[in-house]
Amino acid sequence: MNPLRHVAIIMDGNGRWGLKYKKSRKAGHKAGLKTVEKIIKESLKNKIKYLTLYAFSTENWKRPKNEVNYLFDLLENFLRNRIEDLNKQKIKLKIIGIKSFSKKLNNLLNYSEKKTSKNSTLQINLALNYGSKKELINAFKSITKARVSVNEKNFTNYLQTKNIPDPDILIRTGNTRRLSNFLLWQLAYSEIFFEKKLWPAFNEKDYNKIIKKFKKIKRNFGNI
Ligand code: FPP
Repeated sequence: MNPLRHVAIIMDGNGRWGLKYKKSRKAGHKAGLKTVEKIIKESLKNKIKYLTLYAFSTENWKRPKNEVNYLFDLLENFLRNRIEDLNKQKIKLKIIGIKSFSKKLNNLLNYSEKKTSKNSTLQINLALNYGSKKELINAFKSITKARVSVNEKNFTNYLQTKNIPDPDILIRTGNTRRLSNFLLWQLAYSEIFFEKKLWPAFNEKDYNKIIKKFKKIKRNFGNI
C-alpha cells in the first residue's frame, strides 16, 4: 500500500455549481468553502501531512472585480473565524504564491502563518496569487544569483514548496483535464485524478474513494 503524505487539489467548478443551483457564481464559492472544511477534516482523519489547495491563480485576476473581491472577503472571513480553531487542531497554514494583496489581508495572512507555524498535524498550503511558471522563473533567478550549482536537489530549495514532499495525489474536480499552471515541477510523478463532480458537490466519500484507489496503484517512478 502506498504511503500518502501529500494531496494537492484544483478546486474547480464553483462558478458552474453556483449558477446551476443558486443562480450566482458567488454562492458557488461560498459552497466551495464548505467543501474545503470537509476535506480538511477528512485529511486529518486520514493522517495526511500536507494538503495543498489552489484557491487563486495568477490568472484569476482576469475575473470581474466583484467576484475577485468576493473571493478575498470569503478568505478573510474564513481566517478570522477559523484560525483559532485550526490552531487548536495543530494545523499549520502556509501561503504559497505572492502575497501582494491589501495591507489588511497581507497582515492577516502573515499573522495566521506565524500563529500556526509550530503546528504539525496537517500543513495546509494555500495557493494564493500562485502561478507555477512564475515560481519556476523566480527559483531560477534566485539559484543563479546564489551561485549554487543547478541540480534537482538544490533547485527544489528555491521553490515555494521547499521542504515539502511532492504531492502523491493531484485531484482536479469540475470535469476539466488540465493543470492550469499549478505545481508543474512538483507534480512530475503525482497520481492524477480528474473528478467529474463540481467542487461544491465533492464530498468525503469521493475523497476517500480516491485515497483508496491511490493506495493500490503500483508506483514505479520510472522503474519497472
Ligand atoms: C474555481 O472554480 C475556484 C476558484 C477560483 C476559487 C476557489 C475558492 C474556494 C474553493 C472557496 C474559498 C476558499 C478559501 C480557502 C477561502 P471556478 O470559479 O473557476 O468554477 P467554474 O469553472 O465553474 O467557473
